[in-house]
Amino acid sequence: MADTVAARYEPPQVPMPNTAQQYTRNPPLNESDLLPEPLDQLQAWLADAQNAGMIEPGAMTLATVGDDGRPSARVVLCKGFSDGGICFYTNYAGRKGRELSANPEAALVFWWDKLERQVRLEGPVERMSREESLAYFRSRPRESQLGAYSSQQSAIVATREELDARMLAHDEAFAGQDIPLPEHWGGFRLRPRAVEFWQGRSGRMHDRLRYVRNETASWRVERLEP
Ligand SMILES: Cc1cc2nc3c(=O)[nH]c(=O)nc-3n(C[C@H](O)[C@H](O)[C@H](O)COP(=O)(O)O)c2cc1C
Repeated sequence: MADTVAARYEPPQVPMPNTAQQYTRNPPLNESDLLPEPLDQLQAWLADAQNAGMIEPGAMTLATVGDDGRPSARVVLCKGFSDGGICFYTNYAGRKGRELSANPEAALVFWWDKLERQVRLEGPVERMSREESLAYFRSRPRESQLGAYSSQQSAIVATREELDARMLAHDEAFAGQDIPLPEHWGGFRLRPRAVEFWQGRSGRMHDRLRYVRNETASWRVERLEP
């Protein structure tokens, strides 16, 4: 074969980190440690993650399922709690937005490596009100508002320049004015029916405590094997 770049290419050989890592940074998680409400417990762990110096303690993986039955996942930011649910904001017309409109069920996962903790939530998802979405939109920097207005999230774009030019055109069109809240942008709220708190322990004997909704709308806590 000719001496092309492809012929000379050597894939990187990256050794995976030590898989015998023992999780011992935190004390065990006992049933008696848990607050009565799982979203209060989650907020306590979010505060711990913030205090541990995580850069984005609110980053969570959101899994959705398309109408072909295939799951997809991506990271979004937790932007608060309301009406018994956990909130994030996105483009309703992008992939996750369309999947959630067609199938309003999702799962969320936090992982805080500095604390060796994971939290998993599952439940139905609903759109937040226009008022709530507008209030959050207005709290964002102008550049972020412009980005939300200009991006056709998940669509294929030919070049970076096309995106930048669109953003610039909107910046000029709205000079001296507020960027309008786009119809296709706003919040989703996931109201969990189950929330699992996972604390890493040594020997892979991790603690897993899961809140599950009772018929009476109260919570029961069950312990799961690691
Ligand atoms: C740390 C982090 C935070 C993010 N936060 C958000 C967010 O809050 N909302 C959002 O729409 N996308 C967010 N993204 C981008 C998404 O991961 C994803 O690329 C985008 O939403 C498009 O996903 P989709 O095509 O599945 O709809 C974030 C990405 C990272 C890495």
